[in-house]
Amino acid sequence: MILSTRQMLLDAQAGHYAVPAFNIHNLETLQVVADTASEMHSPLIIAVTPSTIDYARDEYVVAMANIAAKHTNTPIAIHLDHFEDITRIKKAIDVGFKSAMIDASKLPFEENIAKTKEVVSYAHHYDATVEAELGKLVGVEDDLVVDDKDAAYTNPDDAVKFVKATNIDSLAVAIGTAHGLYKGEPKLDFDRLIEIRKKVDIPLVLHGASDVPDELVKKAIKLGICKVNVATDLKIPFSNAVKKYFKENPDANDPRKYMTPGKQAMKEIVKHKIEVCGSLNRY
Ligand code: 13P
Repeated sequence: MILSTRQMLLDAQAGHYAVPAFNIHNLETLQVVADTASEMHSPLIIAVTPSTIDYARDEYVVAMANIAAKHTNTPIAIHLDHFEDITRIKKAIDVGFKSAMIDASKLPFEENIAKTKEVVSYAHHYDATVEAELGKLVGVEDDLVVDDKDAAYTNPDDAVKFVKATNIDSLAVAIGTAHGLYKGEPKLDFDRLIEIRKKVDIPLVLHGASDVPDELVKKAIKLGICKVNVATDLKIPFSNAVKKYFKENPDANDPRKYMTPGKQAMKEIVKHKIEVCGSLNRY
């Protein structure tokens, strides 16, 4: 059964670990995250961006995730990542998604609240959970691009007001991570995270966890992060392995052959990220 993220994130919060949210794009990448989470007894959030839904279509994702959930004991949620369009969120919930991020972080504070509230009221009616973001992360996530000049860290007092006003289930915080690869060593504002954690009691989410040293991610989890989003760190090894396969086998044309090394390479990273999250052997 496809779950919402409610219980799995509350369990993570109580247990001081994080549930990994892996961005997938197709059958192969979904299989890798589901099989690996199952082997490692880790809860799993399967995340899809709007452009993944354009590519793979929402009902296919729901169907594939249902099969994964049916064949394993793994607690699996499928999550809409960085959705800005309420109509699209409602449609995805209608076809079986139980978790959504409404990303209205570009809007002024009150408008972010109003838009988020609308999603919460719809989602909760269907027992689906809602994540929202306060502050803005720099970087590129599929079609979402935020320049350095538009970045803003989460203000802890605003976070309190926002959570109270919206009744969201989890909050994505901007504390210095970015989507995609970093130009230098990422610097995380842990004092800010501590302050937010003190003031806000719902599960906190770290976006842009690719290319962040493991020790920093672990520290963020120790300080209260309960969900860690990873996309880029999975795409790179997958595509590098496929490129290598074609270099060595220039006449290859069988997807079952050239996809397999991609899946294997991605699996190693998924295993590692589950270890970093501390989510193994949790069920
Ligand atoms: P990365 O691509 O940096 O891992 O970011 C993923 C993410 O935050 C998805 O919402």
